[in-house]
Amino acid sequence: MLMELRENYQKGARVLIRTYGCQMNKYDSELLMGILVDNGYRLVDCERDADVILVNTCSVREHAEKRALGRLRQFVGMKSNKPGLIVGVYGCMAQRYGDEMLKEVPGIDIVAGPDSFPRILEAVRNAESSAQICTTLGDFDGEGWRPYRKTNSLSGWCAITRGCNNYCSYCIVPYVRGHERSRPLDDIIREVESAVQQGVREITLLGQNVNSYFDGEHDFADLLKAANDIEGLWRIRFATSHPKDFSDKLISAMRELPKVCEHVHLPVQAGSNRILKLMNRGYSREDYLELVDKIKDNVNGVALTTDLLTGFPTENEEDFEQTLDLMKSVKYSGAFTFKYSPRPGTKAAEMENDVPEKTKISRLEQMIKVQQESAAEFSRNLVGTTQEVMFEENSPKNPRNMRGRARNGKIVEVTGEGIKKGDVWTVKINDAQTWVLFGEKIDKLIDNRQ
Ligand code: 5AD
Ligand code: SF4
Repeated sequence: MLMELRENYQKGARVLIRTYGCQMNKYDSELLMGILVDNGYRLVDCERDADVILVNTCSVREHAEKRALGRLRQFVGMKSNKPGLIVGVYGCMAQRYGDEMLKEVPGIDIVAGPDSFPRILEAVRNAESSAQICTTLGDFDGEGWRPYRKTNSLSGWCAITRGCNNYCSYCIVPYVRGHERSRPLDDIIREVESAVQQGVREITLLGQNVNSYFDGEHDFADLLKAANDIEGLWRIRFATSHPKDFSDKLISAMRELPKVCEHVHLPVQAGSNRILKLMNRGYSREDYLELVDKIKDNVNGVALTTDLLTGFPTENEEDFEQTLDLMKSVKYSGAFTFKYSPRPGTKAAEMENDVPEKTKISRLEQMIKVQQESAAEFSRNLVGTTQEVMFEENSPKNPRNMRGRARNGKIVEVTGEGIKKGDVWTVKINDAQTWVLFGEKIDKLIDNRQ
């Protein structure tokens, strides 16, 4: 029976990969898919069809971990009807739990940390005979690993660094993803070129802190310059930027390189200097606001988005008011807002988690309200302007309309005739909802001939 199953897997077994967490996780899932598809596995979307299920997990908040554990138990439970089903946990949570995961989810077959994709094939192949644990954080060299690309995808990701050295006091990332490693510039450029050959027109360069990219010779601005020279690539985005490392050289690169889009995701986390210090963020409120002014002054039409955390230990009303105040003065076009949750092993977890849950919820609601007002204002201010839009899909509500993104990241919808996926047009904006702008096409700038 076992031999039979093993042969089945090797002859096109069906794989499902579920992804939780950040863009880096989505990219890592694409790496896993690339490796498995290259070795004869087939991708499926539904767990009922799968012979192998991998759950790529996130440890950044407790809530995300609980949800993933629930899913994993449910998938392992499916083994009673489907003997031979392989269930694996991948990513940050696998790294954090290690072989403890076998106690949390008895019956799990693979526990593989976020750097273990080079060993995933071996782990899947061996999993029928015994549980496979691979959680050593190794050196990552991108050579030879190609992310899986859907044939019609216009946007792609590329990891330029892995890991993180910042040790923000609330954050588990350095413990689960290891220290920061930058990939050599040539590897990155080769990977992006190969994505472009497969139809990708917009690339997002990913790292926990892209601004500290350094491969021994080139910094992040150098990398943007090299990416800007890739023929057939039309847009370059990047995330995430750490405010403490955002250099003047990078601001000049954003201003001068035509393919680099005018959007910066610049997590602030909090607006009070006392809390920023406890968070070990490495900048003050004043430093941050000065940087924002510099970016806005130099990068025409730039959109700023951010991450915000409320309920950090000792956060009082006055601290929180400073966060709201900062949000109002920056006027973000979008923000991810979170309630603090203590993560075992971090510095902040040694402090008392003293902000009551009710207070956290009420502060979160206030942040969301301010955030929606500023996103709506950002959109309203674009009415009457002309935006460059790369079209990506039919509008879900009105399939005759086409949707795409402006360079600043806002979604733009227009009536669709004569527009193909991947075409770039100038669009006059006539109307705005908080998250979607509406307009009419003016000139075609790029025809996505393929
Ligand atoms: N609790 C809640 N949110 C967190 N983040 C990071 N660590 C925690 C935590 N312990 C948020 C930060 C970060 C985003 C990815 O997740 O805002 O920027
Ligand atoms: Fe979650 Fe952070 Fe890991 Fe991304 S790097 S999956 S956000 S814990």
